[in-house]
Amino acid sequence: MTFSYAKRSHTCGQLKSGNTGDIVTLCGWIAKRRDHGGVIFLDLRDRYGVTQLVFDPTYTTQQEVFEKAGRLRSEFVIAVQGKVRPRPEGMTNTKLPTGEIEIVGLDLQILSEAKTPPFPIEDDVDVAESVRLQYRYLDLRRPALQKNLLVRHRVLQIARDHLSKNDFIEVETPILYKSTPEGARDFIVPSRLNRGEFYALPQSPQTLKQLLMIAGMDRYFQVARCFRDEDLRSDRQPEFSQIDIEASFIDEEVLFPIMEGMVSRLWKEVLGVDVKTPFPRMPYREAMDRFGSDKPDVRFGLELQDLTQIFEKSTFQVFQGALTTNSRGLKGSIRAVVAHEKAESFSRKDLDDLTKFVAQYGAKGLLWIKVQPGGELQSPAAKFFSDEEKAALAKKLELKPGSLVMIVADPSNKVVFDSLGALRLEVGQKLGFIPKPEDHNYAFLWVMNFPLFEYDEKEKRYFAAHHPFTAPKPEFEADFIAARNLDAIEASAYDLVLNGVEVAGGSLRIFKPEVQAAMFKALSLTAEEARDKFGFFLDALSYGTPPHGGMAFGLDRLTAILCGVSAIRDVMAFPKTQKGTCHMSGSPSAVTREQLQEVGISIVRPQA
Ligand code: AMO
Ligand code: AMP
Repeated sequence: MTFSYAKRSHTCGQLKSGNTGDIVTLCGWIAKRRDHGGVIFLDLRDRYGVTQLVFDPTYTTQQEVFEKAGRLRSEFVIAVQGKVRPRPEGMTNTKLPTGEIEIVGLDLQILSEAKTPPFPIEDDVDVAESVRLQYRYLDLRRPALQKNLLVRHRVLQIARDHLSKNDFIEVETPILYKSTPEGARDFIVPSRLNRGEFYALPQSPQTLKQLLMIAGMDRYFQVARCFRDEDLRSDRQPEFSQIDIEASFIDEEVLFPIMEGMVSRLWKEVLGVDVKTPFPRMPYREAMDRFGSDKPDVRFGLELQDLTQIFEKSTFQVFQGALTTNSRGLKGSIRAVVAHEKAESFSRKDLDDLTKFVAQYGAKGLLWIKVQPGGELQSPAAKFFSDEEKAALAKKLELKPGSLVMIVADPSNKVVFDSLGALRLEVGQKLGFIPKPEDHNYAFLWVMNFPLFEYDEKEKRYFAAHHPFTAPKPEFEADFIAARNLDAIEASAYDLVLNGVEVAGGSLRIFKPEVQAAMFKALSLTAEEARDKFGFFLDALSYGTPPHGGMAFGLDRLTAILCGVSAIRDVMAFPKTQKGTCHMSGSPSAVTREQLQEVGISIVRPQA
């Protein structure tokens, strides 16, 4: 009687020496094949692991089965029935959970043959990313990616459990919706039944979750798919997932411990790592001043130094230019990153490369100073430094022979912070200061008191730094309503940062309609525009809105860190390329003329 794959007795990750003598049925893919003196060795792989199979003519009684085994090639799918036996002395594999045993094949079914795969299904093989993505279903057979998806599943299970236990209920919200502003472009979907009109895919369920608070849900969460048409990077996909959270009658002191509890459970249950709670908090201002970033990696030094005062009266034109007051009454600054005992490690070429590096962030140059063995300062601008400035510099930066100072001066503080914040990471990487994933060094940090607004120099107007539903801190509410000192207004907004990655962000929300209307006005929306875009929301706010707030975790980023990988595509089943395309299915792709006609759209082709 033939055996059946549906009577699989074990997985490929299960059998140990205690199973010796058992007759078992396993199913899976052929991972590897080796022939040794008439004996066939095969690695059988499934999601759970790898088990060694042996087809030996002296044990595998039927000649027909042995011949079938001889036909097996990589990635064939088989079911095998066999007997568990210990591996011979010296042949055990301690790295493999099933490394103590092997299965002597007694019977075999070839369930599927496979073409030769375009690349070997193994971790650490060097294959172009585009080929991997084209054959994503093969790439996903790799143990590393399977493990990542398993971690993602566990993250979701633990998050759901933790939030449910804290009275949060999971509510689904629509994907075909209206623009929800999070600062990116919308993906839009034409409506056949309402020609000329469009849905927008949600950038996040922000307004919807606030409406659920108005609806009295009290505590909500959702594993929410979000869509943002923006330039992609290793930590950004056009379509990604959030663990989205909102609650009523709360403030940070209620919300943070629940979130910290969720995160520490994740770290404990997924990695076995204890994280210390509560997480430290740092005001945005301090994060910028010390690290040049609102998502600082606080695991190493190289903190920024402010040299503005020292060079206030400098004769160096670059410094003077940075400190002239601009049309909005604001001044730039002169700041530096200092690496002691490292001047030798940076050649002229390295410094030229770093100058190009900071140019990407808008810096017009990178002025360096090296302290020579005798203590004198070597720098392209040395002749501009007065003795007084040199002394002040040496004192403030604690300069010693071998110190390297890298300075950016710019009339825009944003340029100074962006370029030095990135330079700090780049230099920290080069000098080996940044811990590696396997070090399991996790620095969680709440960054607090964000500015409510950002000014856009090009568009000459203010934007919401987080999103337009974020409340100003109570002490700034009067300024806010009067539209005074907008640059100085702080928001009740917070980000959770982990090792330099923004893993979550949120805020307490505006819950009074007149404050929300003032916000739209500050953002230069006319009353009509505000009505048109958010009228329904302003209306809703006026029917009894509880004070509320929340946050959203980037599920992909959180999972990537738990998996020790840097690109979020490695924790997504079917990610998109940097260009937002899917190599596997070929999307986005053209549609038929009939489909376009139905929705009343004609295409303007880009000019060749
Ligand atoms: P925010 O825009 O900060 O806030 O998003 C929350 C978190 O989502 C992750 N994230 C992304 N992950 C992958 N690809 C992207 N393109 C991407 N964009 C964002 C980040 C980020 O911290 N509605 C608000 C939340 C709130 O206020 O409650 C929101 O969406 O980890
Ligand atoms: P320049 O006067 O442009 O030849 O620049 C002299 C030195 O100052 C060079 O080392 C430049 O890299 C550096 N430099 C120029 N602009 C800046 C700037 N905005 N910030 C810091 N250094 C700069």
